[in-house]
Amino acid sequence: MHDTWTAVDNYFDDLFMEDDAVLDATLQATLDADIPEINVAPNQGKMLNFFIKMMGAKKVLEIGTLGGYSTIWMARALPEDGKIITLELEQHHADVAQANLERAVVEDKVEIIVGMASETLPTLANEAPFDFIFIDADKPSNPIYFEWALKYSRVGTVIFIDNVVRDGAVINGDSEDEKVHGVRNVAEIIANEPRVEAFALQTVGSKSYDGFALLRVVS
Ligand code: SAH
Ligand code: DHB
Ligand code: MG
Repeated sequence: MHDTWTAVDNYFDDLFMEDDAVLDATLQATLDADIPEINVAPNQGKMLNFFIKMMGAKKVLEIGTLGGYSTIWMARALPEDGKIITLELEQHHADVAQANLERAVVEDKVEIIVGMASETLPTLANEAPFDFIFIDADKPSNPIYFEWALKYSRVGTVIFIDNVVRDGAVINGDSEDEKVHGVRNVAEIIANEPRVEAFALQTVGSKSYDGFALLRVVS
């Protein structure tokens, strides 16, 4: 089915997505820098951009920058005084992302913080609350990232957790993949957390079969 999913993405992307030399250059520069191609798909980037505009979000936290592809989509949705803080472990990824952000002329709205997110998150208390939080880094740490996201939220904050389906592997409690357990562990924590309402949505497309969880802080 993967060929069909990709063809359908191509069909709608041809109709609905503008040609975008800056985003193309971002992906090419990321590829040229030997960084893995695990950015969100173009239509998923546009979805993040939509969410931020629909919410009128001004303050965004991203965990997992990679080459800044998702960051650019989100930064473009922000008002003049909006800001994204994006956390990245690898200096090399951060360097490539910084250059990509500058090419996209969104660097004034974005601060990349390099280090293990579990160590840099505790330094962000002064930046909170965030309106929109995109969790997209190492999956085993999802429970830690959710805990900080909640701490840095207000009522109405939306938390987006990427890659929660992983080809359906999420339902296998006996999985030997620690990424699966990262997702399952955070899902259980969310289920027992009265301060959030949540749902998960499966997705197919050029990025194969995966999905995301969307959470809204209610109290
Ligand atoms: N949001 C990006 C994709 C992020 S991929 C996009 O859609 O374009 C995941 C990123 O998380 C990688 O760049 C990886 O280096 C980073 N990462 C992995 N472990 C991390 C950690 N402990 N702290 C911060 N970032 C981490
Ligand atoms: C992986 C991470 C991602 O953020 C993604 O979108 C796809 C795959 C991964 O670590 O395998
Ligand atoms: Mg992802």
